[in-house]
Amino acid sequence: MKSTLALLLVALAHAVLATEFQDCGSEALTVALEVESCDIPPCIVKRGDTLSATILFTADHDVETMTAAVTANIGGIEVPWPGFDDNACAYLLDGCPVAGGSLANWTYPVEVLPEYPPITTLATFRLLHDGDVHDEVCLQVPVTIV
Ligand SMILES: *[C@@H]1O[C@H](CO)[C@@H](O)[C@H](O)[C@H]1NC(C)=O
Repeated sequence: MKSTLALLLVALAHAVLATEFQDCGSEALTVALEVESCDIPPCIVKRGDTLSATILFTADHDVETMTAAVTANIGGIEVPWPGFDDNACAYLLDGCPVAGGSLANWTYPVEVLPEYPPITTLATFRLLHDGDVHDEVCLQVPVTIV
């Protein structure tokens, strides 16, 4: 009975966090994405708006510090998303360190600056740990800037 309830809660959590994405090599045990008002990509984002993006992940091991890297693919080149704060710990609900096996919530207010070009691009979100080359989280989602 208890495990049925646990499964139901997990299913509900998945239903709430519901932006489709492609995984690009996450080491985390679970990864879920929610981009505000975007269930099915491409996510249409308006210049001048700020929208909330949440990544929920279950750490595969103890993580002391994390950095975030967000890039957009423009003509085959990975271009850093301008203005992004790479201090991932500052946007983790419970901060750093993250204990292995625990669920972490990274929520970031993504600013869509007026000077961004009106393009469709594949955005890559990475959460890297401890200066390591490995990605705790790597996910990709198509974005259309309007
Ligand atoms: C993650 O954190 C954000 C910001 O505090 C909050 O709005 C959201 O409900 C949290 N999501 C989950 C699934 O805990």
